[in-house]
Amino acid sequence: MTRSSVRFLHRGEVVSLTDVGANETLLDYLRLRRHAYGTKEGCAEGDCGACTVALGTLQDGGLEYAPVNACICLLGMIDGKELVAVEDLAGANGALHPVQDAVLRHHGSQCGFCTPGIVMSLFTLYHAGGRADRQAVNDTLAGNLCRCTGYRPIVDAALEACDGTPRDAFAAHRANTTERLAALNDGEDIFIGDEEAGFLAAPATVDALARLYVRHPDATLVAGATDVGLWITKQLRALPKIILLGRVAGLAEMRETEQGFYFGAGVTHAQAEPAMAAIDPDLVELLRRFGGKQVRAVGTIGGNIANGSPIGDSMPALIALGTTLHLRRGQATRSMPLEDFFIDYGKQDRAAGEFVTGIDVPRLESDHVFRCYKISKRFDQDISAVLGAFRFTVETGRITHARVAFGGMAATPKRAAATESALRDLPLDDPQGWEAICKALAMDFQPIDDMRAGARYRLETAQALLRKALHEAGGTASTETRLVGLRPEDTERAA
Ligand SMILES: Cc1cc2nc3c(=O)[nH]c(=O)nc-3n(C[C@H](O)[C@H](O)[C@H](O)COP(=O)(O)OP(=O)(O)OC[C@H]3O[C@@H](n4cnc5c(N)ncnc54)[C@H](O)[C@@H]3O)c2cc1C
Ligand code: FES
Ligand code: FES
Repeated sequence: MTRSSVRFLHRGEVVSLTDVGANETLLDYLRLRRHAYGTKEGCAEGDCGACTVALGTLQDGGLEYAPVNACICLLGMIDGKELVAVEDLAGANGALHPVQDAVLRHHGSQCGFCTPGIVMSLFTLYHAGGRADRQAVNDTLAGNLCRCTGYRPIVDAALEACDGTPRDAFAAHRANTTERLAALNDGEDIFIGDEEAGFLAAPATVDALARLYVRHPDATLVAGATDVGLWITKQLRALPKIILLGRVAGLAEMRETEQGFYFGAGVTHAQAEPAMAAIDPDLVELLRRFGGKQVRAVGTIGGNIANGSPIGDSMPALIALGTTLHLRRGQATRSMPLEDFFIDYGKQDRAAGEFVTGIDVPRLESDHVFRCYKISKRFDQDISAVLGAFRFTVETGRITHARVAFGGMAATPKRAAATESALRDLPLDDPQGWEAICKALAMDFQPIDDMRAGARYRLETAQALLRKALHEAGGTASTETRLVGLRPEDTERAA
């Protein structure tokens, strides 16, 4: 069955739209069609958070609110969800929402441009369950920039308002909203437009997606749109054929397997976090610094891989872990080691009409030591200059096998073959002997100068990260190796 409308819940009503443009953003819908000007446009590229709205989604049958950047979210992506914008927060008599009230009383707003976005991010934290601590507030606000107030009063307001017991109208209507969202989930394919001139399609099954994409290999696949959205808003590209992946049942599947974990391509970075935590704590720290909450709420593992950016954050870590990538075209499927997918800058081993279905990430064995480190100019919401990931197999104090991968050092995310072989049989108790191995990185990589970092800085940083990984693996560091992202063993050592 196919329907030619996008349906979502807004202000307690089901909105059904048949005239949705393939490239129409949620922000344009709110401001231009609904004249709801509370949601602001700042950067139009997902960075400032001024356009943040909340989307209510059913996760395992329960209702969850996630912050989303409306500027780079396509309107078609909110099918089956509840839309909450800043105008929707006030109570029936115009009373401020508890989050708004706290921001007002704590003087958390000056010019006010960032305030609607900040309030919406805090609205999602207000509904996240449990009393929010400072770390949770800081993480929630990492994707919201405020140029004039300073964050202290905003953080104080959040700590007061987000006390774990939501008492607003959304909490009161929770059961009803859950029921209505479940009713919207009809499992139908969506197709709006014309096969020739252009369309917005949102298949509901992997089979329907495979058929449609083989028929239209020139269409643009869109998962979270945290890359594609910018092609529209910043590069002003017209993308006449859009296939949305967010409704494809099975693509967001995540499960434990005999070897480790399977992640469907449509699993978002936020959804992946618990499974990544079960693999290694460094992956959680990496995810915490992957964009802000708005980016992680919709950005997907498949999108990060398929985009193939040399500075994409998940790839070096997944490659070092020994991840297998799965692809499908029509009925044909194939798999490969993730590192083989990246051929050259902007070129991946993906045929026309072929898409990523998922990845298998093996769990770490007891003799594995895994580390990954992201280096960027800002701590929060910044793209890496260099990202190093290491998996050492260690037996009786020696490395018997190593997988080393870097981002930001070449035209693609890449394994360090010369360094890996130099690491073989390396004793971990002799830091003097490591220097020659750190130099082997220069055989693997000839990085470039660009606006994020210079070539020399990149190489020296990569060598420093390898040294740090070896120190942590061998327990030989005379000083602490971490200021943030402490692992359980660091905390135990400090106690
Ligand atoms: C503010 C901001 C901060 C960011 N920070 C980071 C960061 O810290 N680290 C980082 O690595 N990235 C970052 N990004 C980039 C982006 O968020 C990631 O690359 C993200 O994982 C992309 O996923 P997506 O689902 O949004 O992809 P989309 O934008 O939907 O798609 C990206 C590309 O992948 C293709 N695609 C998507 N799914 C599939 C599939 N299943 N099969 C085949 N092709 C597919 C699309 O056609 C497109 O070419 C940031 C982006 C923004 C806007
Ligand atoms: S306008 Fe800046 S994130 Fe959307
Ligand atoms: S109050 Fe002015 S940008 Fe935040």
